[in-house]
Amino acid sequence: MSETGIIEGPGDIERPGAFQGHGVIEGHGVIEGHRVEGRDKVTGAARYAFEHPVADAVYAYPLQAPIANGQIGALDAAEALAMPGVIAVLWGGNTRPFGGKDFELSLFHRSDVTYRGQLVGAVIADTQENARAAAAAVRVDYTPAEHDVVLRADHPGLYRPEKINPGLPTDTGYGDVAAGLAAPVLAGTGARVDVTYTTPVQHNNPMEPHAAIASWDSAGTLTIYDSTQGPSADRDTIATVLGLDPGHVRVISPHVGGGFGSKGTTRPHAILAAIAASAVGRPVKVALTRQQMFTLTGHRTPTIQHLQLGADVDGRLTALAHDVIEHTAARTEFAEQTAACTRVMYGTQAMRTTHRLARLNVPAPSWMRAPGETPGMYALESAMDELAVALGMDPVELRVVNEPAAEPDSTGRESGLPFSSRNLVACLRAGADRFGWAGRDPRPGVRRLGRWLAGTGVAASTYPARRRPSTAAVDKLNGDAVDGEYEVRIAAADIGTGARTALGEIAASVLGVDAERVRVILGDSDLPDAPLAGGSMGTASWGSAVAAACAALLKDGAHGSADTTDDVAGDSGWARHSFGAQFAEVLVDPLTGEVRVPRLLGVFAAGRIINPVLARSQFIGGMTMGLSMALLEETAVDAAAGSFVGQDLAQYHIATCADVPSVEAFWIDEDDPHLWPGGGKGVGEIGITGTAAAIGNAVYHATGRRVRNLPITPAKLLAPV
Ligand code: MOS
Repeated sequence: MSETGIIEGPGDIERPGAFQGHGVIEGHGVIEGHRVEGRDKVTGAARYAFEHPVADAVYAYPLQAPIANGQIGALDAAEALAMPGVIAVLWGGNTRPFGGKDFELSLFHRSDVTYRGQLVGAVIADTQENARAAAAAVRVDYTPAEHDVVLRADHPGLYRPEKINPGLPTDTGYGDVAAGLAAPVLAGTGARVDVTYTTPVQHNNPMEPHAAIASWDSAGTLTIYDSTQGPSADRDTIATVLGLDPGHVRVISPHVGGGFGSKGTTRPHAILAAIAASAVGRPVKVALTRQQMFTLTGHRTPTIQHLQLGADVDGRLTALAHDVIEHTAARTEFAEQTAACTRVMYGTQAMRTTHRLARLNVPAPSWMRAPGETPGMYALESAMDELAVALGMDPVELRVVNEPAAEPDSTGRESGLPFSSRNLVACLRAGADRFGWAGRDPRPGVRRLGRWLAGTGVAASTYPARRRPSTAAVDKLNGDAVDGEYEVRIAAADIGTGARTALGEIAASVLGVDAERVRVILGDSDLPDAPLAGGSMGTASWGSAVAAACAALLKDGAHGSADTTDDVAGDSGWARHSFGAQFAEVLVDPLTGEVRVPRLLGVFAAGRIINPVLARSQFIGGMTMGLSMALLEETAVDAAAGSFVGQDLAQYHIATCADVPSVEAFWIDEDDPHLWPGGGKGVGEIGITGTAAAIGNAVYHATGRRVRNLPITPAKLLAPV
């Protein structure tokens, strides 16, 4: 059956991936702008961690355990030490033990191996190539033990962590979930959905691989050029691990080529650089290879998510249960807050959210763009679509009727905090309008564009709006050459988001001058302490301090500084979240199972948009990463070898320009008085949440096939039912 015309394809239907231009912004006027460091980046003047010129530097190459569980025995470095350019081989036997509770950062002084890829030593040589060649010649004895790397719903080791990230309650609930699930079925009306969704291990894969250069001066001060999302926190962690006074560690990181969370915590390469530099008395450079990043820089846990939803005949939720199983490392607990988003989204008579972990022989999972909300909203918003189908209700309307009056489960009670602002419905309505949702035929598998099956899908987005304490300073510069210019100093990180540009604009608006007159110095732990570029909190956290410092300068005339600790401590009493609506159009080749996404459209309500160019870049970047998650991203786990396989970008597929012919981001400006003075809710992560569900829902609409295990590959679409 064919119903061409219901969905209008973008351009030539024979070439559904034809380039359509990226994200035309309508309704926001002409958007112009640039990043203040743009010229430095395109001319190569901007230096990333590995590129800083350091005299007399040598190179360290990691030795990694080839077993996932067991004991480390003797190490024979004789052959490696005789190879060209080799200066030293470091391991537990010839380096001093140092403190630190972090298993993965306590390099070399563990006799046990608990994940494949664990650092057990390093070779230092005159070049990266010589170090790498010699590393292959180091012989280490291991006594392997049985390992366990596979997450399953019936894993015998499942346990209830005390908290989930970032300190939220592990389980919450109210009302009678069982009764709420039974009621609609007993009444013979309404609907019930009981489904399990899974997401695989995923890896962040920023463009710039992790790297560090370490050097010690004669006074025992350590300088590290590191690729980090937070110089202050990186300094503190490095100091703690090495047993140093933080005043004796300086982290410099002026430019960072992405992180997506993987550079939000100190990674082992920085510690390795520091101890190697100490051992050989020269600066040491460490650059992880793309392959090494798959074991040394974190990953997103796989999830198994059981969703149970009940709704009455009008679509009102009678029960909502979201029970999550995920993995953590043998020695490090990381409890992704996968069901936390469900506590925010919909009003219901009864709710339950739970998280259980299995300790496996894997590297510690860590942050990856919207940790928690990304996998959680995929499952919740897919299940909501299933409920809409079961009810015969439009999925936009289903969400609208379940709009809560207050945050449903913020305190584990039915009556939660009021929202500081919540515009999910406005996003859904505006998105439906712009996307052309009206008149959508809900029947699955009935539209064709040429040989392609066509479908559309919708999902909601959400992400918390928070900020952390920060300090900042600003000076009015003196001298003829700089008359009327200002310098803002803050240990913020610009990880490719345009933080310098945004902070300069915030400062300029308070100072009442053009942004060109403000210079922002960041990316150095010797600058005033600042929190991470993470959790979509950078601009709000740093911006609060920068604005306050500039206000102080206006009183003083020459200098201003600020510490927002007290201010931020007063951030309570409101549920602060961004919301959004994602719409996707997909085309599925019924013969090959290939999925194309000719169109993604998102509308976001994220407070006041500080800089439209930078915000749009975050929105469409997040949406693209969500598409990537839906269709491509997966780190396969080799149960027998106890390892992640496919450790490179040839095997781990990430969406490219050709995969996203049209990604459009719009926003609804919110004037929310309960945020920081700049009024932004953060834009780094909202764009990825919900995208994968919108695509999965569109794939169902196109084909009638509900794939509940990401990524949605041709093999899964073509598999016999
Ligand atoms: Mo992002 S995962 O909050 O660095």
